[in-house]
Amino acid sequence: MRYNISMRILFYAAKRYDKESFDAVIDKFPGIEIDYTDHELGPRSASMADGYDAVCAFVSADVRARTLMSLSKHGVRAVLMRCAGFNNVDTEKAKELGIMVKIVPRYSPESVAELAIGLALAANRRLCKSYIRIRENNFDIDGLCGLNLAGKTAGIIGTGKIGSAMCRICNGFGMNVIAYDVNKNLTLEKYVKYVSLNELLKQSDLISLHCPLTEDNYHMIDEAAISKMKDGVILVNTSRGSLIDTSDLIKGIRAGKFHGVGLDVYEEETDYIYADHSNEILPNPATSKLLDYPNVVMTSHQGFYTKEALRAIAETTLQNATDADKYVCTANDI
Ligand code: NAI
Repeated sequence: MRYNISMRILFYAAKRYDKESFDAVIDKFPGIEIDYTDHELGPRSASMADGYDAVCAFVSADVRARTLMSLSKHGVRAVLMRCAGFNNVDTEKAKELGIMVKIVPRYSPESVAELAIGLALAANRRLCKSYIRIRENNFDIDGLCGLNLAGKTAGIIGTGKIGSAMCRICNGFGMNVIAYDVNKNLTLEKYVKYVSLNELLKQSDLISLHCPLTEDNYHMIDEAAISKMKDGVILVNTSRGSLIDTSDLIKGIRAGKFHGVGLDVYEEETDYIYADHSNEILPNPATSKLLDYPNVVMTSHQGFYTKEALRAIAETTLQNATDADKYVCTANDI
């Protein structure tokens, strides 16, 4: 069946798995047509959206003022972010230009929380190192000693959808769960004790970051914060790279502060993310440096990458597009 197309979307930085998940649900959204491009959305590529009603972008797009002005000039009236975070979008400028910005506020909190605990376990039990040894017929376990999580204290920073899921997981591991959030989540009261950020840093054996990146919490984990942490702490970040000051983190790692560090996100990731650079020498020193340490495990911003989450992202983004289609530019709803 053919529908009248009322909303044309240019989908930036499209990967095979994006096309698969969006193509699988698009029939539920008559009137929407998507064209995919490999190009990342930014000030120079925004003009590619000429003639489209909306663009769809992801975490490493540059959706700041110049991009938005170009999109506006080319008639685009909605930016559909296929992610929860929107720190890369100038929402004020979008509002000023009458461009609607929509995000996917909830898709599968467990997809990110389960990766966070996976990173904690991988860093704690040196799973990546162990895997490499076994591949080389090295069955020696010296140096791979971990810590039990049961009975230890998990400190969760940010107890929204993902942080709550992480609290439930840590509780299931038999951990004592404490949390810091600017807004308390009362549904967690049975097994989570809210403390100040200082107390959390001092008491936790595992610290996991689950708050959005804002101007207020940029580099919230810096030298001062690290110095308050217990020696031998495990630190996990699946939220946004700039919550941690990378050079202070490296100093802390070198000083032996951490038993393990698990990072799905890091400050320089936008330079490499979702592309194969295996034949290159990485120009940015911090990422390569972090990879040097035996107690650091890194993944490539893949917290969202489960089948359930991809489907939910596709459905919500296309629902957002349907809503944007009816939008008369009066408000911006982020
Ligand atoms: P959410 O909005 O449900 O929860 C965020 C929580 O952080 C809220 O309770 C809020 O009050 C709290 N918060 C805000 N500022 C804070 C601060 N300065 N200190 C402490 N708490 C603070 O968001 P959700 O869905 O749980 O996502 C959290 C973050 O996870 C996103 O902002 C995004 O950066 C990241 N994320 C990462 C993904 C990945 O693939 N690695 C995928 C999806 C989200």
